[in-house]
Order: sequence, then C-alpha cells, then structure tokens
Amino acid sequence: MCKKPYYITTPIYYPSANLHIGNTYTTVAADALARFKRLTGYDVMFLTGTDEHGQKIQRIAEEKGVTPKEYVDEIVAGIKSLWELMDISYDKFIRTTDDYHIKAVQDIFKKLYDQGDIYKDSYEGWYCTPCESFWTETQLVDGKCPDCGRPVEKAKEEAYFFKMSKYADRLIQYIEEHPEFIQPESRKNEMLNNFLRPGLQDLCVSRTSFNWGIPVTFDTDHVIYVWIDALSNYITALGYGNEDTTLYEKFWPADVHLIGKDILRFHTIYWPIMLMALDLPLPKQVFGHGWLLVDGGKMSKSKGNVVDPVALVNSFGVDPVRYYLLKEIPFGSDGLFNNEIFIKKINSDLANDLGNLLSRTITMIEKYFDCVVPAPTAKEAIDDELIRLALDTPGKVEAAIDELKIPEALEAIWNLIGRANKYIDETTPWILAKDEAKKERLGTVLYNLIESLRFASVMISAFLPTTSTKINEQINAEVTTWNSLSAFDGTSAGNKVNKGAVIFPRIDVDAKLAELEALREAQLKATKKTEMKPIKEEITIEDFEKIDLRVAKVIACEPVKGAKKLLKLKVDLGGEERQVISGISQYYKPEELVGKNIVLVANLKPVKLRGELSQGMILAAATDDDGKLFVVDPGDLETGSIVR
Ligand code: ME8
Ligand code: MG
Repeated sequence: MCKKPYYITTPIYYPSANLHIGNTYTTVAADALARFKRLTGYDVMFLTGTDEHGQKIQRIAEEKGVTPKEYVDEIVAGIKSLWELMDISYDKFIRTTDDYHIKAVQDIFKKLYDQGDIYKDSYEGWYCTPCESFWTETQLVDGKCPDCGRPVEKAKEEAYFFKMSKYADRLIQYIEEHPEFIQPESRKNEMLNNFLRPGLQDLCVSRTSFNWGIPVTFDTDHVIYVWIDALSNYITALGYGNEDTTLYEKFWPADVHLIGKDILRFHTIYWPIMLMALDLPLPKQVFGHGWLLVDGGKMSKSKGNVVDPVALVNSFGVDPVRYYLLKEIPFGSDGLFNNEIFIKKINSDLANDLGNLLSRTITMIEKYFDCVVPAPTAKEAIDDELIRLALDTPGKVEAAIDELKIPEALEAIWNLIGRANKYIDETTPWILAKDEAKKERLGTVLYNLIESLRFASVMISAFLPTTSTKINEQINAEVTTWNSLSAFDGTSAGNKVNKGAVIFPRIDVDAKLAELEALREAQLKATKKTEMKPIKEEITIEDFEKIDLRVAKVIACEPVKGAKKLLKLKVDLGGEERQVISGISQYYKPEELVGKNIVLVANLKPVKLRGELSQGMILAAATDDDGKLFVVDPGDLETGSIVR
C-alpha cells in the first residue's frame, strides 16, 4: 500500500550558542505533528536545519579568530545535540552551507535574473563609517547619524533587487482563494492589510559589504542576501536544483511550514512570490505560532530570564518539558513559561493522572493476578462508558491535529486518562478483591484499565515518546499501532505485566522552585563570564601616562538640540572652562549633573559633534546593552586634581 506523503518543516535556525525554550518550542511542536502523522500512516518528511550565512556570523567568527565555517560547525553540533535531547525525530537536517544547497540557490538566483525578476541597481543612502550603517535622508537627525551623532557620507552600494510588486496581485488573489494558506486566520488579515494591499517594495537580495554568503555566480562581488538563501532550503533539501529530485517530486508542496509569528511575512509574501516566479506550487499552509514569554515579558540575556531547555530537561526529564510546551501554550497565540505552573502541571497531569493510573493498575494486577492480565469475562453496563470513550478518543485526537490544535489533542487523551481513574473509584477493585465470587468481575475491571492504558500510550507516543515507551514496557504492550485502536481488545489475557519504577515522581514544589532560582542565578553569572569582553592589548605605564585625567566640576548643562542622546556640559577644570558633549542624556537630567564633580579626559583632541565643539570626554561606566550608565564620581576632590 502506498502511504500518503506529509512534508512538515521548522524554520532553519540562526546558529546561536544558546537556543532558548522559545526556539525549542517551534521544533517540539513540529516534532509532535511529524510523529503523529507517522503514527497515523503517513510517509513523513520532517525537515529542520540551520541558516548559517550573514554579516553577524562573519563578525563573531572574526572576533573569535576562527573561520565562519569553523564557528558554525561547532554551534551546529550543539544544536543537533539539543534536538537529540528533546527527542526531535527530524528526517533531514539542512545547513545552508551544504554544497547542494549552495548550488541550487545560485541557480535559482541566476534563473530569476535571466527572466528579469531580479535586476541590478544601486542602493543609495547616507553611510556612517564607524557604525557601518546606511541611513535614508529622513532617518538622519540634523544631517548626522541618528545613532552616534557623527557626520555621514553619501554612499552607493551596488545591489540586486527582486521585483516583488510584479506578483503582488496574484498573491493577494491566491491568499483570498485559499483561506487555509495563512494560519491562524487573524494573521492572514495582518499580512493582507499591513503589507500586501499598501503595495510591496522591491526586495534587496544581495550585498557587497561582507562576503560570508553564497556568491552570485555571474557577479562575484555580491553575496546573496538572507531570504533567497534561507527560504529556498525548503526545496533544496528535497533535491530541487540537483540531479536527484525524487524527494522533491514526492514531497513538494509542503503540507505545513511551521514558524514563529516574527517571520510570517517572509514566509507568506516573499516565499510564495519566489515560488511563483520559479513557477513552482506554493506550500499548502504556513502556520505562525505565538511568542513564548516568561514572567516579565520577552526573554533576554541581560534580564537573566532566558529559560534554558537543557537545564530544564536535566532537571525534569524531556517529556515534562514537551508536555508543558504542547499542552499549556495555546497553539497560535502567545503563552507563558512559568516554573511554578510547570511544576504543578507535572504533579497534576503527569504524576497524578497518568502516573497513578499506571502504577495503581499494574500494582493491582500484580497483587490479585500475579502479574498476569485476566480475561474480560464479566462485563457490566458501567464499562460501556469507558470503552466508548476510549474508542472515540483517537478520532478526536486526529481531528484536533488535522487543525493543528495540539493542546486540544492532548486534552482529549487526558479526558480518557481521567475517565479511567474515575472508573477505578467507581468499580472499587480493592473491595471486589475481598470476595472470591467477584474474581471474574475484578479481572474484567483490571483488563479494561490495562487496555485503556494501552490506548493512552499509543496516542501519547507522538507527544511524549519516552513516556509511551516506559508505559509500553510496564503493560507489556503487544500492539501499538494506530489501527489497533479501532477495537478495545488489543491486550491478550494471559499477557504478563512488568511492574517498573514510578514514571513521574511527585515533585516538592517549593524545594524545586528554590533549586531553579539558584540555577538561574548561576546561569546569569556564567553568561556574564563568557560574555566578558577580552581585555585590550597591554600598554606600558608610559602609554597610560599620556592620558591626562582631571577632576572637573559641572557648572552648566543642557540637551543638544535635535540629538536624542547628547548633553552639552560646561565644566570647570580649576582655572579653565571647557565645553564637553557627552552621550549620556538617557541616564542623567541636566540638573542632576550641575554641581557634580566628574573625571575628564583633558588632553583628548577636540571634535565637533552635531556642530558643537567637544573639548574632552567624561569618564563613565556602562553596561553593554544600554541598560545602565554611571558617570565616574571623584567625590569632592578639588577641581583640577589629577586622576591616576
Ligand atoms: O528566524 N517564542 O531563525 P531564528 C517562540 N533563520 N518562538 C520563538 C521565540 C520565542 N520567544 N524566539 C524565537 C530565524 N522563536 C531565521 C528563519 S526560515 C527560512 C529562516 C522562534 O533562529 C522564531 O519565531 O531567529 C523562529 O520560528 C525560530 O524560533 C527560529 O528563529
Ligand atoms: Mg529571529
């Protein structure tokens, strides 16, 4: 029998040393869908990978003194081991540095150029050399760099552009005719109204200012910039553009591109337009899931609230993490990762509901039937409800997954687990066990429980594969296929169960929370350490003595007009007055500085900032990320005192 193909993708990740729980989320969700489709009889291709080019990678590698490829190789190995830890069952891992990808992307670019969809033009703007940034006329402040206030120069960079606008009408029509294409629904209107209908700008698709990218074959000063390289992975991974296109023919168009909402625009506008230009079919669906937040909002390193999936898995095991991500985050909307809710969910849903159902059932079969599954020979009306629910649940789960409603699918399975626990309370097997005449009835109850567990185990195998394996071992499951769930008789009487360890031990919430908090602090410290900027090249005392540092008193201070960050200070150097321009207005109000002593680099060559003369520099200590800044305070030393 020929299985139906199913092609699901995650985004390809930027190589980052620390993938957080938010990045992990996309891939865990895709994995659950891929496993479910395999379970229900599809021939699945599940693709993930890494997006390895760009200026940022080149810069980091240079700082580390390695080649960009050496740098990404190491990071990619780390990402692969994270996916192993998270039980991600990808079928293919693509790297945009793979040779077949490079070749195919070069051919795609050439084809689009040859047919006139890509053209060469120049990108013109104002360039700030120290900031290495291009600005448009309207972005400039007083004709200067809006970031640093320094002068900018007119500069032109040659670049290739993609004629996006040419295909806009066709895309609008396609989206309107295919309501399932962009999901969830609300995101579709955002794309149409905010981007497509107002008119598309042509997209800049090459760069000459760095070279860590795929070279344009017919113009080698240029590297292909970001999106043509990255998005093409979904077809190059299948062999498109290379000799063997069997997989492409089998799996394209994709059933679903699963992505975070931040990259929805690229996947629902640029990507379909690229495909239209290449005359290829569009993916059937693009699903943009929501943002994973932590208490206090977005995760950020400087806030120290980045949730590390490796630490969580080490501390709780992989399935609790998968369960929380899949069940507790509404699929499609933003959701919260919260330690306390996480631990309580493990206790209630995993330890109590599922874990107890297993251990109670196995313990009773051990105790009353010497580990041998009894035959269900004494049915009663009360059994029907449980059996009917068990038989109905697989269909409900499948229907939920067909609409990508992952939490709803899990909820349906947990309804069955809850029903089975209630069935124990209703049938009170420990009372039946006291009466030899009720032995057959007791056996039937336990049979129904073990078979319910088999149903649960088969269904959860897509979501919690490790747990499913553990349950299968204990109940000694003989059949675990999806089709076996069409009848409530997949366990044979006489089969022997294996009592094993408790699958989810109860967690002491307070103790574990304290442990996690300690871990978070340790991590924050470690991050700080690894991020310590290297100490600059050694200088001699003579070098240092060239710098003339003086205590000076601020006698006047006002903002520099039109420059958001700058303050103009008048300082008294004890015999001489100076004007100094300093970029500290986000941190100090002018009146806070007047009367204060500061330390001035007194022999720094004067410069003009925003047309204002700056004679020296004020010493300040600051964090990297613009978080905090303090002007160095020399106390109430006399003005003019020398600082050494
Ligand atoms: O965007 N919550 O890669 P990436 C949920 N290389 N999802 C999050 C998240 C959060 N807090 N933070 C990140 C890229 N993500 C490109 C993709 S595809 C042709 C190129 C998700 O490493 C994000 O939305 O920045 C994306 O789906 C994935 O992590 C990888 O992000
Ligand atoms: Mg991103």
